[in-house]
Order: sequence, then structure tokens, then C-alpha cells
Amino acid sequence: MNFSVIGLQWGDEGKGKIVDYISGNCAAVVRFNGGSNAGHTVVKDGKKYVFHLLPSGAARGKEMILASGVAVDPIILSEEIGKVSGKILIDSRCSVVTPYDKKLDEIIEEKRGSLALGTTRRGIGPSYAMRALRLEPRVCDILANDFNFEALATFYDMMHINGNLQEWIEYSRNVLKGIEGDSGARVVELNEKGEEVVFEGSQGSLLDIMHGSYPYVTSSHTLSTYIPLSLGLSKDIIGDTIGVMKCYATRVGSGPFPSEEKGVLAEEIRRIGNEYGATTGRARRIGWLDFVSLKYAVRMNGVKEVAITKVDVLSKIRQLKICRSYSVDGEEISDFFKAIPRLDDAKAELEEMDSLHGYDFSIGMKGALKKLIELIEEELKVSVRLVSYGEERSETFELSR
Ligand code: IMP
Ligand code: MG
Repeated sequence: MNFSVIGLQWGDEGKGKIVDYISGNCAAVVRFNGGSNAGHTVVKDGKKYVFHLLPSGAARGKEMILASGVAVDPIILSEEIGKVSGKILIDSRCSVVTPYDKKLDEIIEEKRGSLALGTTRRGIGPSYAMRALRLEPRVCDILANDFNFEALATFYDMMHINGNLQEWIEYSRNVLKGIEGDSGARVVELNEKGEEVVFEGSQGSLLDIMHGSYPYVTSSHTLSTYIPLSLGLSKDIIGDTIGVMKCYATRVGSGPFPSEEKGVLAEEIRRIGNEYGATTGRARRIGWLDFVSLKYAVRMNGVKEVAITKVDVLSKIRQLKICRSYSVDGEEISDFFKAIPRLDDAKAELEEMDSLHGYDFSIGMKGALKKLIELIEEELKVSVRLVSYGEERSETFELSR
């Protein structure tokens, strides 16, 4: 059966490592949302691989598929193609990110001033917007050579963004030629042969454009329910969804973050966890495990099993806090939906847990670690399937079903 790997927080949960860990028997890894704003890190034999557009299965030489909901930047794609050996299929219906989109991303961010979203400036938001305006070329439009770029150029001209696209079009055609096709049909074909595929989510559930902390969100859908739509298949294709959650929280870019920790302790966690954006190098903001938002993410994705990541980081700090409710203007809220309109004012009610400081992972899962896992299972009504305590594949506990 196929399965999907979805981030339950604000992105950077460690999905790359989990996809790499569980995709061993799978024929292909599929990306279905976002674009080169993503940064998926996989470490293999001490070597670090970061992919922005290709799925993490790239590190295992798997077939890599981009479904039609991905916004494809031919320049980044070309760079990444040069680093991998597996077969690549890009859906012909994917939108193609143009140089104009990247300029617009920058201009909008500048204009927002102190209210900037902190986007990755990869042009992903403008590309989806141009798609909705029916101005953006798709992969098949670039290849067919009969797309009317006039309308797009006229629109951008109004924003004082211009420049000749001809050279870029030629370049993009060369990159995309021969690797385009029908992602849904390919997944069905593999399944009919008895092969499984993994769907790899990008960003996190709380950054979903519809259900996240709007406007501080990304520009696409990040939830498991976007998988069938992106492939042009029915909902049955998703299989089981594994939710990935870090044992603390991070957020890169602006926006509300109720369980945020600042100061020396946050700096320590950032340093130990190496919490710097894989795409922009920005320092990630640090916070504690937040069950209010996790419950919401678990429900939206239909998650029954989770993978917990970066537990080793907790073994190097002296404190461990969690949050089960927010205080919003004196009111206690434990339903994330109710907090959404007032998320800026929501403060996590933090509870101290037994710290994992000095934990020796060679003893397996005992004491404070076992207690934390039990709390997660109880609060989220899920089974913990994987516990990751390091970057390498071998640094993972697998719990039997
Ligand atoms: P955009 O997706 O570049 O438009 O950025 C919108 C918001 O999503 C910003 O806060 C980004 O930092 C955040 N974001 C986008 N991609 C990722 C990701 O892969 N991990 C974490 N945050 C992301
Ligand atoms: Mg990332």
C-alpha cells in the first residue's frame, strides 16, 4: 500500500529523514505541493543532501515524481537533476515558476515592511497566484512552444516587472524535455505492478494556505488531502498517513507561534538542533511541543501513526516543556480552530516535564523518554511508530504496530 509523510507543525519536522528511512521498499517518492521553497535534508553515510524540488527519495536512487500541484522552477530542477541518478517524471500540468514571479515575491515582501511574511523569495506564491489568474505557463505549455506569454508579460508590466523571457523559455524547454508526463497514471501503473509509492509532504500542516495561520502561511496546500487532487486521482490513492513531528517546535519566517521560547534557552536549542533554514539559512524560531496545534493537524490529515524526530536534542538540554492550552486575553483555549482569529495574542500555557538531559539512547526507550512517548500517544490518540534520535538512518527506534 502507498503511504504519505506529512509535517504536523510549521515545516522542518524532519520529513526528509523519515521519508528516507521508510522508503526502502518503495518504487518511487512523489512530491505533490509547494516548490523550491522547501528544503529537505537527508544524511547518508555522513554526507548531507539537501533537496528543494526533488523528493527525498533522490538520496536512495528511487524514481522521483513531481505531481501537478508542484510549482516547478527549471533552474533549481536542472541543478538538482545533476546530483541524482534515479528516473525523474514531472507532471505536464505543473505550473512553471518564471523569473517574473521571483521579482514579484521580493517586491511584495519589501512593500509589506514590518508585516512581511518572511517568504523564501523563491517566487512560489506569485506562481500559484498567476496560475489562478490563468496567466502562468504549465510544463506542457513551455514544451508546446505556442503559449501566449503576452498576457503574463502585460500583467507584470503593470507591476514594473519586465524583461525578455525568450532565453529563459529556451533554457526551460531543454530542462523539461523528455521528463514530462502524467504523474497520476505513473503511480497507478506502479501500483498495478504491485509496487508502492511514498507521497512526501512539503512545509507543514500549520502553513497550509487554507487551514493554517493565514496570512503567515505558504501558498499551497500542505495536507494529505491535497495528494489525490495533485495527482488527479481519487482519495484512495493516499494510503496511510504518517505524521512527522519534532519533539519541540520551530518556525522560520514571521507569524504567530504561541509556544515560542526566546532567550538563552532558545539559542541553546537552536545551536544543538542546528535549527537554521535549509533553503534560506535563516535562524529558525524555537518553541515547545504544542498539543493544541498538533491535535488540529492530526485531525486534518487523518493521522493514526506518527514519527517523532530530534529527540537527541532534548537529551542535551536541561528543560522540557509542553503545552496543552493557550491563554488568549485571559480565556483558556485548547481548540486550535477557536484560536485562529486571535492567534497573535495566544500564549501557550507551558507545563514542565521530566527532562531527558543526559539520556543514553543505547538503553532503548525507558524513563523520561517513554513517558514523553506515552503522553504523545494519549494526547493525540495516535501510535508512535518511529522515534528518531540522530541524522543517520541507524539512529531510529522502530516500534512494532
Ligand atoms: P513561501 O512559501 O516562500 O511563500 O513562504 C511563506 C512562509 O512559509 C514563510 O514563513 C516561509 O519561511 C515558510 N516556508 C516555506 N517553505 C518552508 C519550508 O519548507 N519549511 C519551513 N517553512 C517554510
Ligand atoms: Mg525544511
